[in-house]
Amino acid sequence: MTTPAAILPQLPPVDGKRRDFLYVATASVAAVGAAATVWPLINQMNPSADVMAAASVDVDLAGIEPGQAVVASWRGKPVFVRNLTAAEQAAANDYPADKLRDPETLADRTKPGHANWLISIGICTHLGCVPLGGREGEVKGDHGGYYCPCHGSVYDTAGRIRKGPAPRNLDLPDHVFTSPTQVRIG
Ligand code: FES
Repeated sequence: MTTPAAILPQLPPVDGKRRDFLYVATASVAAVGAAATVWPLINQMNPSADVMAAASVDVDLAGIEPGQAVVASWRGKPVFVRNLTAAEQAAANDYPADKLRDPETLADRTKPGHANWLISIGICTHLGCVPLGGREGEVKGDHGGYYCPCHGSVYDTAGRIRKGPAPRNLDLPDHVFTSPTQVRIG
């Protein structure tokens, strides 16, 4: 009786390199197949054009006088956009940054040529409350910046933590000045 092995064509012996190639070629095809299957899924998960547009927000600075501020909304977060007075800038610059819990200068936290514009995310770095001081008439705390009523964190005019439990300065969103009176956040 003829066995299955006997009816198989007699192939020449395959050396190690040939086997490696076959293995790699098979693996590559499998990877391409997987990539082709996964790409449409990934592409569907990418944000649409209108969502990408909302990823940044333009703020008109023209009407914000020194000493005034507005609160913008960016990706669902409040952003404090503040036009610092000369005195507020001096107060930040006069305090030695190396004595701070989170050492940063005002220059570190603002854009060159725009030291008066402090643009920070209005979320306390302790447990996420929205500090006071971003709106007209709100208390600004002992250091003239922001005061978090939840547990008493006090930020200075550069948004740097000066007292209370917050571990670090107010976070800064990416931003760029697109004109002397316009800033794009995000
Ligand atoms: Fe601001 Fe705790 S959340 S001090």
